Amino acid sequence: MSSLSNKNILVGVTGGIAAYKSAEIVRLLRDFGADVRVIMTPAAVEFIRPLTLQALSGNPVHIELVDAEAEAGMGHIELARWADLLLVAPATANSLATLVHGAADTLLGAVYLATPATVAIAPAMNQGMWLHPANLANIAELERRGATIIGPTSGLQACGDVGPGRLATPTEIAERVAASFTPGILQGVRVIITAGPTREAIDPVRYISNHSSGKMGYALAAAAADAGATVTLISGPVNLDAPEHCHLTSVISANEMYLASMQACKNAHVFIGAAAVADYRCVDVSSQKIKKQACNLTLQLEKNIDIITAVGSANDHLYVVGFAAETENLTANAQLKLDRKQLNAIVANDVSRTDIGFDADDNEVYWITPNSEIQMHKKSKTQLARDLIQCIANDLDHRTVADISG
Ligand code: C5P
Repeated sequence: MSSLSNKNILVGVTGGIAAYKSAEIVRLLRDFGADVRVIMTPAAVEFIRPLTLQALSGNPVHIELVDAEAEAGMGHIELARWADLLLVAPATANSLATLVHGAADTLLGAVYLATPATVAIAPAMNQGMWLHPANLANIAELERRGATIIGPTSGLQACGDVGPGRLATPTEIAERVAASFTPGILQGVRVIITAGPTREAIDPVRYISNHSSGKMGYALAAAAADAGATVTLISGPVNLDAPEHCHLTSVISANEMYLASMQACKNAHVFIGAAAVADYRCVDVSSQKIKKQACNLTLQLEKNIDIITAVGSANDHLYVVGFAAETENLTANAQLKLDRKQLNAIVANDVSRTDIGFDADDNEVYWITPNSEIQMHKKSKTQLARDLIQCIANDLDHRTVADISG
């Protein structure tokens, strides 16, 4: 668990239904060791009582901008100076607009203008409000000014809608706040990740592909970016949103993925081949839709280039991590693949199980290097990705990173 000891966190609670979750956020921040003070907007007071946040933070709650009593204790300028980080959670659409425009008619607005602290914002609102261009422009502007935007997540909302706009979980918010005080374990490292399936055309309407959802590769890209890496995600066709702070290159076929990978790896430190690349492609791709025939149809297939082997042998200093999706003899087959493809590490998972692997939200894998084998028990792909990024960071030879210039 990250530590927030000796850190002063000022939590701004604004007036949305998710305000009740600020209680848990304040509690977690204190568990992490932070000194916590809370500002509530007048609208937030309609949703959660100040006394709750006072008890949990161990400090009086600040509400009014002009409050003689509060100013005698800790006024708004002192509050702004006191904070090492200002966390606005939940941040309503209105409060985001207020921050963007620099309105100082609330205590939170005034403190935002006055504080030299790092700013983190966890938005929460109805999905239509979140997706409105005005709101998205506000988010982009706050990000441009250096604020860390945490969430929102997607799902069922208090109003009954389904979509993006749910407050990130209190745990994620507290962890992201804590992480913002520690330099990322992959700071300055350039990481290329392939993800998802590839599609090999048969004719203009048909293709050969596989069940890869891309979830593991996308989770790795998000975890690497969170760890401070500069991430290029080369993705086959998937139904996932691009992770924040990653450069996304979309491809269809294995050959396109190969070309994009070779280009991206010229200047990279780490390559993670999480894609389920088709091993074969059609020798002849018909330019017209192939008509159904009375007899059987035979397709002649030729081998695709092995991308991970190609990028590894073309780039001496690249730290290369492969994936082995196996249905039997999991670790033995993965070991063979590690040797054959000359990888630095391989992540082995059992794709014969339906509760993990392809398309599942969870995974259970082995992390195998030439001299170690670690079993990682079943957990969410998000958590697993963080653990794998930690393994890579531990294993990475930092001289290798320093060797590559540009
Ligand atoms: O040989 P196999 O497909 O089982 O190896 C899996 C690993 O190799 C994965 O990391 C996958 O991304 C990579 N791979 C590749 N190019 C291919 C086939 C697999 O990079 N053509």
